[in-house]
Amino acid sequence: MRYLWRAIKLLLPLKGLLALYIGCTLLLAAVSSAPLGVGNALLYNLRLAAQDAAAAPVELGEAASAALPAAPQGAHKASRLTPDQDDVSKWANTKLVSWFGTGMSLVYALCLIILACLVVKGVLDFLVSYLQGYISTKLQMDATVRVMRHALTLDMGFFDSEKMGDLAVRVYGDTSTLRATAKVTLDMLEKPPHILFLIAVAVCLNWQLFLIGALGIPLIVVPFYTLTRKLYKNTYKAIGTQIDISQAGGQMLGGLRLVRAYNATDAEGRNFARLIYKYMGYAMRKIVIRAIQRPLTEVILGLSVVLVLIVGSGQVMRGEKSLESFVIFLIALGTLAHPVRGLLSTLSDIAEFVPSAERTFELLDRKPKIVEKPGAVELQPLQREIVFESVTLDYGRGPIFQGLDLAIRKGERVGIVGRTGVGKSSLLWLLLRFYEPKEGRIRIDGVDIRDVTFHSLREHMALVAQDTFLFHTTIEENIRYGRPGATKEEIVAAAKAAAIHDEIVSFPEGYQTVTGHGGAALSGGQRQRLSVARAILRDAPILLLDEATSAMDSEREAQVQAALEKLAQGRTSIVIAHRLSTIRGCDRIVVFADTGGIEKVGTHDELLSVSPTYKRLWDRLAGRKDATVDDAAAD
Ligand SMILES: Nc1ncnc2c1ncn2[C@@H]1O[C@H](COP(=O)(O)OP(=O)(O)OP(=O)(O)O)[C@@H](O)[C@H]1O
Ligand SMILES: [Mg+2]
Repeated sequence: MRYLWRAIKLLLPLKGLLALYIGCTLLLAAVSSAPLGVGNALLYNLRLAAQDAAAAPVELGEAASAALPAAPQGAHKASRLTPDQDDVSKWANTKLVSWFGTGMSLVYALCLIILACLVVKGVLDFLVSYLQGYISTKLQMDATVRVMRHALTLDMGFFDSEKMGDLAVRVYGDTSTLRATAKVTLDMLEKPPHILFLIAVAVCLNWQLFLIGALGIPLIVVPFYTLTRKLYKNTYKAIGTQIDISQAGGQMLGGLRLVRAYNATDAEGRNFARLIYKYMGYAMRKIVIRAIQRPLTEVILGLSVVLVLIVGSGQVMRGEKSLESFVIFLIALGTLAHPVRGLLSTLSDIAEFVPSAERTFELLDRKPKIVEKPGAVELQPLQREIVFESVTLDYGRGPIFQGLDLAIRKGERVGIVGRTGVGKSSLLWLLLRFYEPKEGRIRIDGVDIRDVTFHSLREHMALVAQDTFLFHTTIEENIRYGRPGATKEEIVAAAKAAAIHDEIVSFPEGYQTVTGHGGAALSGGQRQRLSVARAILRDAPILLLDEATSAMDSEREAQVQAALEKLAQGRTSIVIAHRLSTIRGCDRIVVFADTGGIEKVGTHDELLSVSPTYKRLWDRLAGRKDATVDDAAAD
């Protein structure tokens, strides 16, 4: 219920519209109930007229056929009101007669009132539906944006462990249920006044009968509650399967080449079908529960109506109540059944959306651990050095490296080599503050990177990641991602520097070629050179190159290498590579020991004499320019 309340609170920013909505619903309730009172007066006056016509002498028949006989005005006629009508109806009738007179003029006036009520009701109905639609859709859209924006602030660790399908369902599925939250909340605002107005009419007409009619309500509550709880639990299970479906679908299509190459198309299809029908099972269970709820309430409410019919008929026969007040009471009861049914179905809706609301707020309640400090400062351009001080990294499965010390001076080109999985890329993630060291710290010109804003920290860096990622858009836009606002000329210049321009212009669509899902329409080497072009365009003082040229042939690598070396002038770069040829020319090379942590740091020539690992690698690779560290280790 806490989440329900929070979901309702999401509506608060729209309080102006909510107030308008409530005003409209109150008016609507009044206007909807008014014709009942007017109808009561009409029927009553018709009966009096009929009685007068029956009692009138034959010679008065002409007058009676020309117009309805006069309604009670004299003392003897007013006395006829006493046994038939309750005080409120009597008062209303006297008023109506004094305003509109009697006979057909009264009928016309009452019919006009009913017509006017219906027109106003139509307008209010439209307004209420429009406002309800607007408020609920706005709530959903706002919630979707809020959830996605919040998810974007969460730690990388969250995305490492969380199923993407779960996130997709949270962002799109769960928030769409919040739309139902709004609808339900608005229903709850609309139905009670409507119900209260109708109850007021019914109580005024015949309070004893009303109490008998209301007997059914407590009888409905227990079975209704039990079924609603079942609905709630079932909805949770359905969401679980929805996540699996979303995950399976995304994975299957994302890895389609692998799925086909491993002849797994049928198996994946079967798995998908299994999940879908599992979901259908939950959906059917929901349908069955709701299908039971409806007739159950109808039968119980029907029982009360039967009781009302028996007792009410007795009252009319004994002359305690007028027939028309009984008829109007029955109409009021019938009209009341509609919003009451609506209210009950709204309660079932709540049971269905609470799990989604819970999941939405659970995500919004997750706070990232890696956050910007209040009062974080802007990182100033690098003047002296980047220092890793006794840094220990642990992703939660034991330390990757411990007490790592490394200083990179401004303008230096530092190469990093080491066996796969020793933590080379992780160094870059730490520098970008994607993850936080378990111990130690990283300082840039003496300022701990935890004290600077994310934006200024990352603005100083251009990354070419090991797993190149391209957006499903044009080549031009993919490169422009490095610096939004860059001109076409700057993009072309970056592409030329990354030795990809000639290939781009050879495509029929040139720079407008769409790269496909994750860059699937390009070769691995082309993707990598686009990533390099993106980093070149970024024009940042610190370059982070993680296997930036690994997928290129040696000719292209040499070209890109030359461009990167040119780019590196006046900048600080960290170059991770498995090919020793890529990093041989670096100012200093950091060698990671096979067992983790830094073994030695030095120039190529120094390392040959002081780092057994490096010497071993180099000796074994001698004469094999393109051989990699892992090749050497495997020898
Ligand atoms: N997000 C993560 N969660 C848990 N463990 C991780 C995560 N990222 C990396 N690791 C682990 O940390 C270790 C270092 O990974 P990292 O990617 O830094 O290695 P690397 O030296 O760049 O390897 P490679 O040469 O293969 O790119 C690996 O053992 C890896 O399994
Ligand atoms: Mg790596």
